[in-house]
Amino acid sequence: MLERAQVMNAPIGVFDSGLGGLTVLSALREALPGESFVYLGDVARLPYGTKSASVVNAYSQNCLRLLESYGVKLLVVACNTATALALDPLQLSTPIPVVGVIEGGVRAAVDCTRNQRILVLATDATVKNEAYLREFNRQNFQGQVTQIACPLLVPLAEEGWWEHEVTAQVIRHYLEGISEYDTIVLGCTHYPLLEPSFRKVLPEDISLVHGGKVVAEQVRQILSEKKQLSSSGDSTITFLATDSVSTQLPLLKLTGTLGKISFSLVALG
Ligand code: DGL
Repeated sequence: MLERAQVMNAPIGVFDSGLGGLTVLSALREALPGESFVYLGDVARLPYGTKSASVVNAYSQNCLRLLESYGVKLLVVACNTATALALDPLQLSTPIPVVGVIEGGVRAAVDCTRNQRILVLATDATVKNEAYLREFNRQNFQGQVTQIACPLLVPLAEEGWWEHEVTAQVIRHYLEGISEYDTIVLGCTHYPLLEPSFRKVLPEDISLVHGGKVVAEQVRQILSEKKQLSSSGDSTITFLATDSVSTQLPLLKLTGTLGKISFSLVALG
């Protein structure tokens, strides 16, 4: 049995198929500066968004088990695809709280839209699973929701082409012929990295939202209710990846250089 202080000062686990979940980690760090994090990017098996539910489930279970071995007190599934396809089984297979990103993305969009027309951009697997549509229903949204799968955006984000003209062209292609929405949900955690390219393409009055901030608030609330907010004041970030990442610079840019940071390569499965 872990001592109470050990649980309080245990890290929060965060995983994604790659760099995308860092957009969520960044929001978590901002809301919870005293917490330590273990971030896992399953880059060896990226992308998740083109794979079947059984494969994404198996990968997500591997990520959970690895992060549990680091003694995490809560898990954030910082991947919309894994949230859509594997959140329920993950929640059933661990005693720690598991928080996904779709509920937060929907809440942010519903709070933001003025004309009740929302566009969701996500991976193929997320779009086909319709988890966003179910969540809009669950939150009682009465407006119009359109979904578009944008599979080419994940490799562009991993490549670091966040402001590249080719990325802007790909976005233009995906959005062709779609109009009248005022809010876009970036329903894949890689897409917020491409915000500069989205801004080149979109009129200024269209809002881009994602679940990061809402998720960070949900996590703060869960830990506070369980009296498990960290008391140590000594926050660390451990980055784990299942294959080499092309550059560590984006990690530092997105998460800030404060705190103690370490990188390691891990094997899964
Ligand atoms: N970042 C992930 C998501 O939010 C998945 C990207 C991928 O691996 O296809 O859906």
